[in-house]
Amino acid sequence: MVTSALFWSVAIVYLTHIGRVSGDCWLIEGEKGFVWLAICSQNQPPYEAIPQHINSTIVDLRLNENKIKSIHYSALSRFANLTYLNLTKNEISYIEDGAFSAQFNLQVLQMGFNKLRNLTEGILRGLGKLQYLYLQANLIETVTPNAFWECPNIENIDLSMNRIQQLDGSTFTSLTKLTTFY
Ligand SMILES: *[C@@H]1O[C@H](CO)[C@@H](O)[C@H](O)[C@H]1NC(C)=O
Ligand SMILES: *[C@@H]1O[C@H](CO)[C@@H](O)[C@H](O)[C@H]1NC(C)=O
Ligand SMILES: *[C@@H]1O[C@H](CO)[C@@H](O)[C@H](O)[C@H]1NC(C)=O
Ligand SMILES: *[C@@H]1O[C@H](CO)[C@@H](O)[C@H](O)[C@H]1NC(C)=O
Repeated sequence: MVTSALFWSVAIVYLTHIGRVSGDCWLIEGEKGFVWLAICSQNQPPYEAIPQHINSTIVDLRLNENKIKSIHYSALSRFANLTYLNLTKNEISYIEDGAFSAQFNLQVLQMGFNKLRNLTEGILRGLGKLQYLYLQANLIETVTPNAFWECPNIENIDLSMNRIQQLDGSTFTSLTKLTTFY
């Protein structure tokens, strides 16, 4: 009896802290004043750009399965604590040079199932903590040899299901931590 009363009081406190809807995203708060996770997946109607109402403290942002078409620095630069970003299954065909350069905490970038045609140094600029990069099922033909210059901590890269014809041997030489490549 005591156990179940305790359970319910804990459960109620928990529920008041999660499941709060802001805009169309589900938010989960971490410590006071900080938003940890925003789930904005499969929004109806789908987002066509990075939504701007999301709290800048966000650590884990899920925008998978929307219709985002391009990524610009001005839309992302507020999110300095962003560590996990899921942009899988959007329609991204353009990423501004340096678009992610304010995301110096980003460790996992998921951009599979989009429409990117090349992978350049400009796209990955400033991603010094990046460990996991998912770019499967895009239309990538070209990976410039300097693409990973600013990402020495990459451990996993998925470039499967693209249109890459050839890769320069020097492309991966700086990636001493790379263990998995598809
Ligand atoms: C982020 O959310 C917290 C709690 O909901 C709030 O106190 C804080 O003012 C928000 N920060 C911004 C920049 O909106
Ligand atoms: C990032 O998180 C730290 C605390 O972990 C906080 O002091 C800082 O204001 C946050 N930055 C942003 C842009 O929310
Ligand atoms: C990222 O999005 C994909 C596609 O919707 C989903 O399958 C995957 O579980 C998501 N992963 C995370 C960590 O959000
Ligand atoms: C990469 O693709 C974009 C858009 O398709 C194009 O504007 C840009 O010039 C390409 N860059 C390189 C280095 O091929």
